[in-house]
Amino acid sequence: MIQTLEWTDQGVRFIDQTKLPTEETYVTCQTHEQVAEVIRTMVVRGAPAIGVAAAMGIALAVKNSKAETVGDLKRDFNQACDVIGKTRPTAVNLFWAIRRMQEKLERIRIRPLSQIRQTLIEEAQRMHAEDIAANQAMGRHGATLMPSEGGVLTHCNAGALATCGYGTALGVIRAAVEQGKKIHVFADETRPFLQGSRLTAWELMKDGIPTTVISDNMAGAMMSQGKIGAIVVGADRIAANGDVANKIGTYTVAVLAKEHGIPFYVAAPFSTIDLATPDGGKIPIEQRDAKEVTHIAGKQMVPDGVGIENPAFDVTPAKYVTAIITERGIARAPYEECLRNLAVKEASIEVLHATKNGHSSSPNLKTRV
Ligand code: MRU
Repeated sequence: MIQTLEWTDQGVRFIDQTKLPTEETYVTCQTHEQVAEVIRTMVVRGAPAIGVAAAMGIALAVKNSKAETVGDLKRDFNQACDVIGKTRPTAVNLFWAIRRMQEKLERIRIRPLSQIRQTLIEEAQRMHAEDIAANQAMGRHGATLMPSEGGVLTHCNAGALATCGYGTALGVIRAAVEQGKKIHVFADETRPFLQGSRLTAWELMKDGIPTTVISDNMAGAMMSQGKIGAIVVGADRIAANGDVANKIGTYTVAVLAKEHGIPFYVAAPFSTIDLATPDGGKIPIEQRDAKEVTHIAGKQMVPDGVGIENPAFDVTPAKYVTAIITERGIARAPYEECLRNLAVKEASIEVLHATKNGHSSSPNLKTRV
């Protein structure tokens, strides 16, 4: 399995996603400031991977802290949460991970300092293992929705590289292929950062899953030619009403899918579902540097002085989403009710079945609520 990020004795090690597909190199962070920087610069990216990276960054801060009292340790801990919390605003997994570490610290604050440090490091590692288990569970649920053969389109990279392993949308595709389905993936290149052509194509080629890269503006033509049987994408934040924030261009794909009668699925773990945000209009959308649009591989592609927009994400209204595949089961409209049921009913199961090596010990998960 691709090691997107891992806790090592030397620090947190990341595959450098800015260098793929031509160079497979790794970056090791020893401080939480370095982790914040690799999140900001997208050495690591993808909502679940960002979340676990944040937790590991906080764990590094706790490990490095010279504090001799819980109060001082908490000050260093909070400072790390602040720095990491300012990196990228859209993927709610980042804030979910910070909150989970904060809650853990609150629960163990009366223990000896050495134990607090160790427990927080273990909590970050547990989140890594749980993420892989969640993806595998999503794969089992979502594979049932994939066609037995034919084209499946995906946008951006919601694969092993966007998670701790296996992937969300690509996890669904991987599981379907493992079940013997003959799937051919169409990967949108995903301008401007090219996560589809650089990352999705790279990891699917590594797995021997047949893949065709198309530029984003070809998706409609592929659909009208009958080449696409289903669409599956990931998400950075799903609001309570089922509106989905995901990589810019996802909305266009969803609208095209509706026009062509093609099912549009979103695969995401519960750490991406934000029941506190009522609808997509309230989701903060990250604006990135104009240079990502104006330059390709360092070469300027637009005239000086022209206006540039670079929102990194868009919101797909729930009405375009056929189903949301989670580790706890498949949610369908009305999403508000269905997601809240899944959140309450299955809250403990993923924890119960996540083991140290990241494999779910017993796939005792509901497939439908
Ligand atoms: O800007 P990125 O590369 O972090 O955006 C990633 C996406 O939009 C993914 O589709 C999303 O995070 C889901 S990853 C399982």
